[in-house]
Amino acid sequence: MPTDSLRIAGAARGKAVTITVDGRAVEAFAGESVATALWADGIRRLRSSPGGGPRGMFCGMGICQECVVEVDGATVPSCQARVAEGLVVRLRQG
Ligand code: FES
Repeated sequence: MPTDSLRIAGAARGKAVTITVDGRAVEAFAGESVATALWADGIRRLRSSPGGGPRGMFCGMGICQECVVEVDGATVPSCQARVAEGLVVRLRQG
């Protein structure tokens, strides 16, 4: 069961599912954003800038592109991608 510690208490959620993040199983809830699932798992650094600096979720609404990751082979803002069972996420480091 995914942790609720960083999620809003009492909110209605989808069913518990497992996604893969850089080869590691991460528990999440179907329908929440990938950014939320990563955040709740303690993952803050989602990609690196061209200079190597850390980048992570900033606006949370698809504008800044700071949260871009690879989801099932497509490059997308993680705050705009929805969790589903078996999703494969790759963080963009370097
Ligand atoms: S946090 Fe800004 S686009 Fe995702």
